[in-house]
Amino acid sequence: MIELPETMPTPSRPVAAAPGKVYLKTFGCQMNVYDSERMSEMLAAQGFTATDEPAEADLVILNTCHIREKAVEKVYSDLGRIRDLKHDRQAAGLDMVVAVAGCVAQAEGAEIARRAPTVDVVIGPQSYHRLPDLIAKARAQGRAQVETTFPDDDKFGHLPARDKGLTGKRRAAAAFLTVQEGCDKFCTFCVVPYTRGAEYSRPADKLVEEARRLVTEGVRELTLLGQNVNAYSGKAPDGGRWSLARLIRALAEIPDLERLRYMTSHPRDMADDLIAVHSDCAKLMPFLHLPFQSGADRILATMNRKHTAQEYRVLVDRIRQARPDIALSTDVIVGFPGETEAEFEATLELVRDVGFAQAYSFKYSARPGTPASTITGQITETVKSERLGRLQELLEGQQQAFNQACIGRTFPVLFERAGRKEGQLVGRSPYLQLVHAEATPLLLGRIMQVEISGSGQNSLAGVIKAA
Ligand code: 5AD
Ligand code: SF4
Repeated sequence: MIELPETMPTPSRPVAAAPGKVYLKTFGCQMNVYDSERMSEMLAAQGFTATDEPAEADLVILNTCHIREKAVEKVYSDLGRIRDLKHDRQAAGLDMVVAVAGCVAQAEGAEIARRAPTVDVVIGPQSYHRLPDLIAKARAQGRAQVETTFPDDDKFGHLPARDKGLTGKRRAAAAFLTVQEGCDKFCTFCVVPYTRGAEYSRPADKLVEEARRLVTEGVRELTLLGQNVNAYSGKAPDGGRWSLARLIRALAEIPDLERLRYMTSHPRDMADDLIAVHSDCAKLMPFLHLPFQSGADRILATMNRKHTAQEYRVLVDRIRQARPDIALSTDVIVGFPGETEAEFEATLELVRDVGFAQAYSFKYSARPGTPASTITGQITETVKSERLGRLQELLEGQQQAFNQACIGRTFPVLFERAGRKEGQLVGRSPYLQLVHAEATPLLLGRIMQVEISGSGQNSLAGVIKAA
């Protein structure tokens, strides 16, 4: 752990009576959502409560994302606003501890506390169990605490068992479960191998235990998370190793757990046993997020993706043979350094060939410290925007066509939350589409058969048929 020198100008402040109210804001991916839940549960166990108003907060936590440049800028602009609120509170004799967690914390470390002296704690994703200790130290010493080491044990093992979080609200029927962290793939555009470190898989028995606990609290659907989730290789109860496929089979045996999903997968790690679970495990939903990033082999090689466009096509064919109704989602980058018009068109062609139910598409953004950021031939913003527009038009058309084709079909829908309209609930279809239907709140957490009657870009509408 790094302690900043005392010479750093930090305002002296009164030591607030701990605990207090927490404002916790989460940026980025589902793994951050999961981490925030675990932090929230830990702080709730210590007597903290939640607030939606940063001005009221004794503790502000920003759980940050570093994947694209804009995500980092957002954090610094939020910190500017928080600095003003903190000054107001200090003028009124109140304290506010400001913590930056997540991947920006990991990547920037002490630099954050230098650039934003309002920050008291900088904590990387591997050290969340140390948060209360660092908050206490920051309060007692009146100087920023920075903790960005990569301990090589299961960080979640140091956190309390799953319980109610800061809001004290009932758990939703669909939950995340991080099974794997970090990445050894080193795609040349990506910061993850640096911010989240080497691949680490949580022990299988701990995951089964956590899943059981979540199910007793009403969870019916689990999405297994990992930066490279299908590389999962966790310690098995008998001392050996379990693959993701084996873990899915074990979790599928939990009686009231009705649905399983996993993300994000790398094409190279779609092992035969994993493809096989898609054909014979009814609880595994027919939806797979499988990024391909580019349809041009030269770009894929420069990205260090370790697969070609044709290998991706063949893989998709094999997955569809195993589970003919599977729907695919993907991540695509346009404007990677050196990408020619023909190479971009190869990306469009791959999208046309495969057909996606949903997709995330991004303009390449150079991330400091990654190999791609120093490649010559960076593409201009204008070209990137033009390509992204064309790609998104194609992808949105596919998504709309997929949604439209659902009209008249009946899906099992797991209702997760109240809709915006009175008397309406929102759930998910097996294909991860949001489905709105008129329903009593008694159906929250239940799977109902819903006949789809309408479709939009991002959601469906339907009518409940029968249980
Ligand atoms: N620029 C643009 N998109 C990126 N992604 C990751 N790094 C970058 C970057 N430097 C995208 C990839 C990845 C998703 C999570 O974010 O498509 O799959
Ligand atoms: Fe990043 Fe995913 Fe590539 Fe790993 S596999 S380096 S997380 S894009």
